[in-house]
Amino acid sequence: MADRKKKPLPAKLPALSRRELVARLSEAEETLRAIRSGEVDAIVVDRQGEEKVFTLQGADHTYRVFVERMNEGAAVLSSDHTVLHCNSRFARFLGAGLQSVIGSSMLDLVWPEDHPKLDALLRRAAQKNCRGEVRLQTRKGVLLSVHLSLNPLRLGSTRAVCLIASDLSETKRAEQELRASAEQLRNLAAHLLSVREEERARISRQVHDELGQSLTAVKMDLAWLAGRLPQKNAQMLKRIRTTRQLADSLIQSIRRISTELRPAVLDLGLAEAVEWQMQEFQARTGIHCKLRLLTQEVFAPDVSTALFRILQETLTNVARHSKATRVEVVKQKQRDRVVLRIHDNGRGFDQEDPALSQSLGLLGMRERAAILGGRVNISSAPGKGTTVTAWIPFPSPKESSIP
Ligand SMILES: Nc1ncnc2c1ncn2[C@@H]1O[C@H](COP(=O)(O)OP(=O)(O)OP(=O)(O)O)[C@@H](O)[C@H]1O
Ligand SMILES: [Mg+2]
Repeated sequence: MADRKKKPLPAKLPALSRRELVARLSEAEETLRAIRSGEVDAIVVDRQGEEKVFTLQGADHTYRVFVERMNEGAAVLSSDHTVLHCNSRFARFLGAGLQSVIGSSMLDLVWPEDHPKLDALLRRAAQKNCRGEVRLQTRKGVLLSVHLSLNPLRLGSTRAVCLIASDLSETKRAEQELRASAEQLRNLAAHLLSVREEERARISRQVHDELGQSLTAVKMDLAWLAGRLPQKNAQMLKRIRTTRQLADSLIQSIRRISTELRPAVLDLGLAEAVEWQMQEFQARTGIHCKLRLLTQEVFAPDVSTALFRILQETLTNVARHSKATRVEVVKQKQRDRVVLRIHDNGRGFDQEDPALSQSLGLLGMRERAAILGGRVNISSAPGKGTTVTAWIPFPSPKESSIP
């Protein structure tokens, strides 16, 4: 114990003038501050000319310094939630001095809206350790979000609660920025999807109408030519016939491409589009399809388009990855939501596989539903098949943005 660390303190105060009293008080405050920050490890009390040394060393002293220096706020609350002790970090969180925080009720330090939360936490903390988040009300009226960790404490025969408060303002700011950026990305995704659907619809129409009509005209002209050529021009007639066959197969290709871009049947409604898609899928893959349409309700075009695209992506996955022999699709209404459930009896997959974080197909389905305030749930396990369920509320919470 070094001499310079001793702090003399008179044991008995004689009758004092106001100025002396203020000086003594500020000296006492300075001593307390020094004890808290660990600058002092003993107090020398002057008792009628005789000095008595009270040492602050030992575990108590170490802990005091540790609590005082930590980055978190620390406080001890009595059973009626009065602050009995706190470190200066806790007082700093509140923008107040230690003296004014000690003796305050914890409820007065927390934003009134968060009182029910704090009440519940304090009640639980009387029994066992618990954690929660509240907003402290600083002296300047600014709110400070803190994470509280509370533990029940016994001080002799009295019960108390020990509280550690961590400043969450940085985390909250980062969370807010992340939310804003996620919102921007979602808006961008919605815009891109909408542009893509419009583009597909336009190209599909042009391919179907312009190319289809021109080829039909070519076919008719070839028929006209063939009708006027004398039979003896057998070679030329043969060439015309093969050109007509070529035009026919081109017309088929155009129809297929136009339908793949955007099936016209989607304009008739989701039920018709799903039915058509399932027939087409069964014919193409040989996988047995069962369809249960439990609602005939007509939904907004953006809802129908989103569900149809989710169905298409899911069926593509079934054909590509599942080795399934059966697919069942159910379309139904649940309160104000339309539900599309697609189940296959294939080999399933491990949803915890880290490689899936790179999978854009599943992500795209989730994004499509989320843009319309809905969601997609995928449940699968190796050997157990896969079920994709999409819920979308209707009428759509947003203006119909995807044709
Ligand atoms: N019905 C299914 N049965 C078995 N495995 C599936 C099924 N659906 C998805 N998977 C697994 O999940 C993975 C991710 O699917 P996702 O659709 O996201 O990607 P992908 O089909 O591989 O590629 P793309 O981005 O072209 O869609 C697939 O690679 C496959 O391993
Ligand atoms: Mg896929």
